Amino acid sequence: MLVSALILHSLLLTLYCSSVTASKTLVYYARFMATWSPSSWQSKPAGQQPTYPDREVVESTVEQLASLPPLVTSWEVERLRVQLAEAAEGKRFLLQGGACAERFDQCSAEIITNKLKILLQMSLLLTFGLKRRITRVGRFAGQYAKPRSADTEERDGVTLPTYRGEIINGPDFTAADRIPDPERMLRGYEHAALTLNFIRSLVDGGFADLHHTEYWDLEFVAHSPRAGEYQEMVKSVSDSLRFMETLAGVRAAEISRVDFFTSHEALLLPYEQAVTRQVPRREGWYNLGTHFPWIGMRTAEVEGAHADYFRGIRNPIGVKIGPEMDPEWLLELLEILDPDSEPGRITVIHRMGHGQVTEKLPPLVEAVQRSGRLVLWCCDPMHGNTEKTASGHKTRRFDNILSELEQSFDVHAELGSYQGGVHFELSGDNVTECVGGARGLTEVDLERAYESRVDPRLNYEQSLEMALLIGQKVERMNGQRD
Ligand code: PEP
Ligand code: CO
Repeated sequence: MLVSALILHSLLLTLYCSSVTASKTLVYYARFMATWSPSSWQSKPAGQQPTYPDREVVESTVEQLASLPPLVTSWEVERLRVQLAEAAEGKRFLLQGGACAERFDQCSAEIITNKLKILLQMSLLLTFGLKRRITRVGRFAGQYAKPRSADTEERDGVTLPTYRGEIINGPDFTAADRIPDPERMLRGYEHAALTLNFIRSLVDGGFADLHHTEYWDLEFVAHSPRAGEYQEMVKSVSDSLRFMETLAGVRAAEISRVDFFTSHEALLLPYEQAVTRQVPRREGWYNLGTHFPWIGMRTAEVEGAHADYFRGIRNPIGVKIGPEMDPEWLLELLEILDPDSEPGRITVIHRMGHGQVTEKLPPLVEAVQRSGRLVLWCCDPMHGNTEKTASGHKTRRFDNILSELEQSFDVHAELGSYQGGVHFELSGDNVTECVGGARGLTEVDLERAYESRVDPRLNYEQSLEMALLIGQKVERMNGQRD
């Protein structure tokens, strides 16, 4: 063991001396190779994991998963990293959105198409409002595992494991559904593959026609006191597109290829381990189950298994942070996850809540600035603004979501940093889960079309309106600067 370590050491040293550019990679390697592997997280405390009844079945499932072809490629992952680096520098903007938790029974053509449609339409509004290129990342094709506040749930004297997402167990309050089943990892992978396959086909086909505002469902605009402004914004997007097309003599879809990247919370570590691969002619390990995995707020302990898993993969990664995060913790986490300060590696997704963002965010931004790191700052205005109605529905108020977003843009502008992204839980359908917006959805409306099993999402109209309002906010900010 010692001998091989010494041989490795001298080999690294020789190579180190031979090239300056190679040196950084070798330092990276020397630091990690001896200690990290896709399964090394297993020696650390892992939060939010299910208790499977049979370890052997977990191991054979992981083995089976590991032999399947990947869902994404390393070059797509690298392309996203470049785009996120541009966003961190203020040259781009990230739009990340999708379900809180995907459901297997909602892996349908209509739901997937509608999700792409809303993300594409929002991104178009943002392109014109922010005068930036937009990187679209879906919370889809793998967003199946959820952190929960309790391990078990009790009803009428019966205690069962909590529902942790389709990839772990089922939602019904029966032992058959709730006992974690490793086979579900395979079902999750298959559903992610089906989703991604359809997304790729839509993107390659004529789907980008949805650029055209005549296909948009804009009926809600009339219900808003801001109807006039909204109509004007949509018209100007539409005119600009037509102008671009006339000028270039091609359809907008062909002017800029429409890319979608995938993301999910990499929570269920046996699954993430199985989809972590090495590829020919590239160094290191890639999570090839998604382009952009993120580490959740509830599993972000520095000494925890999740931080250990994330530090070893080459993907760009999201780090969710809430009001409990303090500057020392964040800096320590960044040091572990990104020791070489690689451009595009880290996106910090902050979710403080509209009442706390001006107090909690500045010390964190300042600490990162002092450390000399450049991260991409992205605001998740959803997770800090969840409340429960008297009738027991989880909801979020449109105005609170918007307020956190606007305050957060201001905080970054005041500190001389750049908020280069937004993160939403949204649906492309007319669900009724969040209250407010142009149609003024109320708590009574929540009874009508509440489909999420976990967190409430903005619906199609609320999402489009949010994109219009972000555009307006940034235009106002730019106007003040001119
Ligand atoms: C989520 O994004 O659904 C989630 C659980 O977020 P957070 O880790 O920020 O609570
Ligand atoms: Co959520």
